[in-house]
Amino acid sequence: MSASTEVVPALLLERMILSAMASGVLAIDGELRVVFVNPAAEQLFGASRAMLEQRPLADLVPDDSALFDLIRRVQLVGNSVSDYGVELPLNRSVRRLVDLHVSPLAERPGHCLVVLHPCSVAHRLNHQLIHRGGARSVAGLGATLAHEVKNPLSGIRGAAQLLEQGVSRDEHPLIRLICDETDRICALVDRMEEFADHGPIERRPVNIYQVLEHVRRLAESGFARKVHFQAHYDPSLPEVDGDRDQLVQVFLNLVKNAAEAVPRDGGEIGLSTQYTHGLWVRIANSSERVELPITVQIEDNGPGVSEEMVGHLFEPFVSSKRSGSGLGLSLVAKIVGDHGGVVEYARQARGALFRVRLPAWRASNGSSER
Ligand SMILES: Nc1ncnc2c1ncn2[C@@H]1O[C@H](COP(=O)(O)OP(=O)(O)OP(=O)(O)O)[C@@H](O)[C@H]1O
Ligand SMILES: [Mg+2]
Repeated sequence: MSASTEVVPALLLERMILSAMASGVLAIDGELRVVFVNPAAEQLFGASRAMLEQRPLADLVPDDSALFDLIRRVQLVGNSVSDYGVELPLNRSVRRLVDLHVSPLAERPGHCLVVLHPCSVAHRLNHQLIHRGGARSVAGLGATLAHEVKNPLSGIRGAAQLLEQGVSRDEHPLIRLICDETDRICALVDRMEEFADHGPIERRPVNIYQVLEHVRRLAESGFARKVHFQAHYDPSLPEVDGDRDQLVQVFLNLVKNAAEAVPRDGGEIGLSTQYTHGLWVRIANSSERVELPITVQIEDNGPGVSEEMVGHLFEPFVSSKRSGSGLGLSLVAKIVGDHGGVVEYARQARGALFRVRLPAWRASNGSSER
């Protein structure tokens, strides 16, 4: 033991260690009330110690969450239990991915100690990569439907148009109905066909500023005519290693969602770019890692993504809109994934924030190092 630790009383030393820990530590009593929090826990919950201590844990975390399951198990069997990569709504319902460890406090029957360890950004991002399986299923389904549905549908449409000449004027709306509905189904199948894999993407140096400005112009002259755009671009950003047209598709889908979410009057969308140092992500099912220094953010002042949608956002066919196909974000996740990048959603105090992280083009070897 060093000279400096010898003079610090044991209790004070323990407090110092708990204060210095990067993991959130909570002590919970038999009635599931919080009786102690360390500074890291205060930060995770976004509230002070005075606000947290003596409060029922259920005020902070939903009582049907994984944390309560673990605590009940510890109280029942008396052993420590852990769970990894659990999504918990913590600070003002922001969902955080954490590793959870719960152990009994031997000296205080019924009490337990909860350690919440936030997963690293890289771990969180890897978590996003699992959405890619869904996109693959859509690609397969799209190819089948193109063959089995689209071809017969064009026959039905053609037959309806032929009939139009022989039926009375009163019945023309029925023919129109057949044509409109077949067009709608064909358009849906066309969108599913966009998921098809056409081999590795054609990588070039892409100026992301130009991509975003192109998307902004398209939006302003079409679906987002009444929306006010704010742009903050980092002028020193390197070029992205990617396919320009596909990246346009990504940001067009994100901006369209934002435009559909903002209020009719006073709608605002923010586009921004920044350089992120030292963010490496492991490629799924591989030991390779890729650096993602280019961050693009799309923010809006709509209501944000509803609680029940958050965990399923990037899955295909998930939509809260009456005429939505729920394919936009799934396609975004697929294209970003094909680029080796990641897309994530973050709730804000006001509105939604989507963050896309992409690799940079490296001129040294004609392509990025990966
Ligand atoms: N900026 C946003 N604000 C609030 N909710 C959003 C936002 N972006 C996406 N969502 C939610 O995510 C769902 C899925 O989005 P996605 O783009 O995949 O499908 P969609 O917009 O419903 O349909 P499609 O894009 O096929 O027309 C939306 O229905 C909506 O509930
Ligand atoms: Mg959409």
